[in-house]
Amino acid sequence: MRIKSATFIVSNQEVSKCPKSNLPEYAFIGRSNVGKSSLINMLTNQKKLAKTSGRPGKTQLINHFLINENWHLVDLPGYGYARVSKSKKNTFQKFITNYFRDRKQLVCAFVLVDIRHEPQPIDLNFMQWLGENNLPFCIVFTKSDKLKPKAIETHIETYTALMLEHWETMPKYFITSSTKHQGKDELLNYIETINFSIRS
Ligand code: GTP
Ligand code: MG
Repeated sequence: MRIKSATFIVSNQEVSKCPKSNLPEYAFIGRSNVGKSSLINMLTNQKKLAKTSGRPGKTQLINHFLINENWHLVDLPGYGYARVSKSKKNTFQKFITNYFRDRKQLVCAFVLVDIRHEPQPIDLNFMQWLGENNLPFCIVFTKSDKLKPKAIETHIETYTALMLEHWETMPKYFITSSTKHQGKDELLNYIETINFSIRS
């Protein structure tokens, strides 16, 4: 899929205030600093569409972007950022959870995982929760530029083995790097295929 337009629509903390249209929607979620906002910029060929930062906790709202006038891409705050206060963390968790539970337009969640790290309970628990709520998701491994190809292969094997302890199959996954533009075509083509199947 070619990105012809990508426009910021609205930011908020309430799923009831998200765009009312029925356009298919894809959300990017994962730990703080994993690279959600950077990935969105990479996919849309823009440098500053989604705000990024080296410090975790940059994205604090549900951000809707309209792509090619016919689908939404959503940038969410990260989970598991220890330095925000406990009450703030609870507020975050609550509106993120509400978003996933109530947003009927959501077609697929992309759960981002830093390819350098061992499988983390917080990610595995979140995927478990998505599964229990019948919410389709894919895994997006980020920052692949930080590892050599062999290490990537080993990491994917370890991750797959662990996932298979809890899941019948390994969810669909993508290996990406926002700095090297890796995984872009695969992700966009996947979204295009789903959009096509929904509409036909
Ligand atoms: P929060 O909004 O705080 O939850 O973070 P986020 O998941 O949106 O992460 P963000 O895109 O802001 O990126 C966090 C940091 O990781 C920034 O310093 C980025 O430059 C860096 N980063 C993101 N993606 C990549 C990547 O593919 N490769 C490398 N090397 N760095 C990356
Ligand atoms: Mg962000």
